[in-house]
Amino acid sequence: MIRSIVRGVGSSLPRRIMKNADFEGVVETSDEWIAQRTGIRQRHIASDDETTASLGEAAARVALADAGLTPADIDLIVLATSTPNNTFPATAVEIQNRLGMHHGFAFDMQAVCSGFVYAVTTADLYIRSGMAKRVLVIGSETFSRILDWNDRSTCVLFGDGAGALVLEAGEGEGTIADRGILAASLRSDGVHKDKLYVDGGPSTTGTVGHLRMEGREVFKHAVGMITDVIEATFAQAGITAEDLDWFVPHQANKRIIDASAKKLGIAEEKAVVTVNLHGNTSAASVPLALSVAVADGRIKKGDLVLLEAMGGGFTWGAVLLRW
Ligand SMILES: CC(C)(COP(=O)(O)OP(=O)(O)OC[C@H]1O[C@@H](n2cnc3c(N)ncnc32)[C@H](O)[C@@H]1OP(=O)(O)O)[C@@H](O)C(=O)NCCC(=O)NCCS
Repeated sequence: MIRSIVRGVGSSLPRRIMKNADFEGVVETSDEWIAQRTGIRQRHIASDDETTASLGEAAARVALADAGLTPADIDLIVLATSTPNNTFPATAVEIQNRLGMHHGFAFDMQAVCSGFVYAVTTADLYIRSGMAKRVLVIGSETFSRILDWNDRSTCVLFGDGAGALVLEAGEGEGTIADRGILAASLRSDGVHKDKLYVDGGPSTTGTVGHLRMEGREVFKHAVGMITDVIEATFAQAGITAEDLDWFVPHQANKRIIDASAKKLGIAEEKAVVTVNLHGNTSAASVPLALSVAVADGRIKKGDLVLLEAMGGGFTWGAVLLRW
């Protein structure tokens, strides 16, 4: 059977680093409060010349180089983002053009922090249907542009960045010993749409708007939703937490990561944590964490890796793959 196999990974971060201490004087907060409640120590913030398209392009180029491929080898780009350069056209098309790619097709996916998990799942379906052979899956965000910098309960949590994977069609036996994507589950429930949202948009206010969040409400639902969708993915693949080599969760809050891993019985040392370095980069957080864990030698060919995310909507999902 056809499997979607990871051939390359890459990432890109804005030049400017903002440490927790840099908020002191901007809003009433402290390094201690932010670090204790979230695990975040710093985040990267885009400068005027850095956009979702430029960061996404840079991450894509690193992933292509890692795969030993060029844009000519790619036939689909799926970009997960909630902070596109423009309302339209899709920022994926802008990245396609920046890469000098004038064949194939490209589109954006919007599932907020779950965007990358949705995009990987979508790319897998295009590959398994035979409609695409090699797909660039990118998560790129500039959440700094939609933050209310006077709201201490949200502005300290998010950061900017991009990560990318090259997925390629390969042959598998149809067992969980195969390399590639092995199982996935996606969920959403719009009943929660007002708990984490942006208070503007083209069809309502005609403005971009700012991110609004009931942090405590999000926290309350997060662990249950994450563990449900992961258990569904384990059941699909017929595995347990002990079979995993690495757990690469969405990086919103270290306490959510720790509580989910504990509830699922995933050993602490298997969790890849980068929220301390990047903050919450929404759809970029999972591929950024993957890039870090591949670069430092943790994730190796043949490892069983679980990706997971939960975000605005709410949306949530998990993907199991063998690297
Ligand atoms: C946002 C979050 C860190 C807040 O932590 P918490 O322990 O729930 O804190 P609370 O919301 O109960 O607020 C506690 C107090 O800290 C204050 N506070 C909020 N932000 C603060 C900040 N940056 N610095 C200092 N104090 C802050 C609040 O005003 C509140 O004060 P009060 O008790 O006088 O009203 C936490 O709820 C969270 O992580 N939620 C999930 C968010 C998330 O992951 N979102 C993305 C999902 S994709």
